[in-house]
Amino acid sequence: MNGLRPSLNRLAGKTAIVTGAAQGIGASIAEVLAHEGAHVAIWDVQPDAGSSTAKRLSERGLRVSYVNVDLTDAIGVEEAVSATSVQHGGPHILVNNARRPFRGDLLSQSLDDWDQEIELLLKAVFHLSRCCIARMKVLGGGVILNVSSVAAFLTTPETPAYHAAKGGITELTRYLACEAGPSGVRVNAICPGHVLKTEQAGKPAAWQEFIRGIVPLRRVPTSIEIGYSVLLLCSDDASLITGQSILVDGGLGLIEQAQLLRNAGMAGKWK
Ligand SMILES: NC(=O)c1ccc[n+]([C@@H]2O[C@H](COP(=O)([O-])OP(=O)(O)OC[C@H]3O[C@@H](n4cnc5c(N)ncnc54)[C@H](O)[C@@H]3O)[C@@H](O)[C@H]2O)c1
Repeated sequence: MNGLRPSLNRLAGKTAIVTGAAQGIGASIAEVLAHEGAHVAIWDVQPDAGSSTAKRLSERGLRVSYVNVDLTDAIGVEEAVSATSVQHGGPHILVNNARRPFRGDLLSQSLDDWDQEIELLLKAVFHLSRCCIARMKVLGGGVILNVSSVAAFLTTPETPAYHAAKGGITELTRYLACEAGPSGVRVNAICPGHVLKTEQAGKPAAWQEFIRGIVPLRRVPTSIEIGYSVLLLCSDDASLITGQSILVDGGLGLIEQAQLLRNAGMAGKWK
């Protein structure tokens, strides 16, 4: 599974930071942005996976580097922004993508876990964004793209802190867009639904069939396609788009309620 389209070199001369890019959706975003000509700094807390992703992409001639950083270490983040800027210029683009595994539901998520989830998904996004906005102001502009989730709009069986954080990202995106707009910085969020990550190509056929059946576009969205939606919003083609949180889900968010009503035998009976 690759899915890359011919490069138009739309990001030549740009430096992009992609957080949580050692694996998953972040690795695909890094791949697409680098394929479009950007230098991509892969920021992640996993040195082995981060280095191996950087090596895999570099071997294909893409300009990428791995930076070992824990996004919840505020001083470390400030130092890493400076180092990336000195070594590669920019940053012109920041993609806030990192996340941690879900732990617990309404009654079982510990308060400590709630704090850690909010710290990574909300506080760290705020801190890194303002560090980058300070640089982007000097550069005359830039783009911030937050990878949120349909969980910002739909109730799904993830942890309560994940929902609260992704809902918060919608408002943080709007706030940052207003504050940073006069400096030429655009800020948007994408909200993916179910995604087949490149390393999950072998995910059970039954899961893929189920997703295909409920997504209006009748296919399983891939992480490379998520990368292309990030590219769109980070490119000059989106020069007037800011402050938006856009569902990138093949239409999943449109039908969830109708599907539930149908499953419950309530379709057509709801007034
Ligand atoms: N996977 C999906 O189906 C899906 C659906 C909707 C939204 N999303 C969103 O997409 C984004 C990526 O999801 P994914 O499933 O690819 O994630 P993933 O779990 O595969 O990867 C997350 C990455 O973040 C890194 N990370 C975690 N804590 C960190 C820290 N403190 N400092 C630096 N890096 C850290 C991890 O090491 C990992 O490489 C997330 O924001 C998620 O909410 C994913």
